[in-house]
Amino acid sequence: MYRITRIAVHIIEKWLRKGNMAARMRDVLPKSELSLEEREKVAEIVHNVVRWKKWYDFVMEHYSLPEKVETYVRLSRSPQEWESAEKVVPEDRYTEIRYSFSSYMANLIDSEFPELRKYLNREPETILCVNFNLSDRENVKDILREEGMKAEDSVLESAVITDSRARYSRAVKEGRAQVQDESSQLIARITASLGNRILDYCAGNGVKTIAIASFTGNRAKIHAWDIDEKKREILRRRAGLYGAKIEVLDGKPSEEYDTVFVDAPCTGVGSARRNPEAKYIDGVEDFPELQLSILNEAKERVKENGYLVYCVCSFTAEETVEVVERFLSENPDFREEEIENKWLKRMKYGHLTDLPDGDVMYICAMKRS
Ligand SMILES: C[S@@+](CC[C@H](N)C(=O)[O-])C[C@H]1O[C@@H](n2cnc3c(N)ncnc32)[C@H](O)[C@@H]1O
Repeated sequence: MYRITRIAVHIIEKWLRKGNMAARMRDVLPKSELSLEEREKVAEIVHNVVRWKKWYDFVMEHYSLPEKVETYVRLSRSPQEWESAEKVVPEDRYTEIRYSFSSYMANLIDSEFPELRKYLNREPETILCVNFNLSDRENVKDILREEGMKAEDSVLESAVITDSRARYSRAVKEGRAQVQDESSQLIARITASLGNRILDYCAGNGVKTIAIASFTGNRAKIHAWDIDEKKREILRRRAGLYGAKIEVLDGKPSEEYDTVFVDAPCTGVGSARRNPEAKYIDGVEDFPELQLSILNEAKERVKENGYLVYCVCSFTAEETVEVVERFLSENPDFREEEIENKWLKRMKYGHLTDLPDGDVMYICAMKRS
């Protein structure tokens, strides 16, 4: 236990100095001599401290606890012990302090999304997405159980709820499944249903591209593009492991497609459960401009009667409905097309995914006339 705490403290110290929680864990964990189980425990502590940092600062001050990183770890181990401090939180800063958000996020949540106050602080389940090109759900569950892990069906036919160490499972190593939040699986499933020639325009490392290839049973023609060459290289390798028929393009796409999918860079507030740093953003920066400009590039590749599908892992109006509103007003040859799906919640334009344990993601399908 001592080693786990020591390494967690070291990572948190680095995070406090330099930010970027995921990078700080990547700096330290692979070089540590911890077992996989121990690394999962360290990650859990780090996530909890980042998730509750503002509340812990308040508790520390209220109880005059020593202001040091070890205290954060101590608080994360016995959260119930300190709950009475809640009574003295100023009413007008309740969400900000008790639920540990930036004042920008607290205002957004209080005014528009009160149901997310608790939800974004919940520890997410680890979910696998079954790769139907190499396996099926029963096979993946059998492997997980053989390895002593939880293996339960979730809502989508591709989704298996499991333990965090499943990322090291044989099922993942052999490409039978990948770790993927269920909302992200839903977005891939919807995109896969919208055409036979699909371009993933912001493919990144290809989590959604691989899921799209899986949902189409490798029967669709799938091209993938990302501005980042390193990511395209990673995707090429991953597509091989997953037996996914994906052509990763070397240069900017020039063909036209039934569906062009844009999973744009964003604030990531919808995945704050996984990356709690997103709870502390002060605004949307210039993401909306970037999102609109990527949509304007990507639209050129949509054929007549084809779809431009826009998605972000966010629920701010600026990155979702407002981007779509601006895009549609500047591009009258596109109109929004309703997506029928039980697990989507309607917004003014587009939808938020609404699965019991999914990230809060936005999707909008726009059809070209
Ligand atoms: C949200 S991530 C995509 C995640 C990916 N779809 C997945 O599921 O793994 C957004 C991606 O957009 C890429 N990107 C940023 N600007 C771009 C542009 N102008 N054209 C293409 N890709 C871009 C980034 O490199 C990043 O990988």
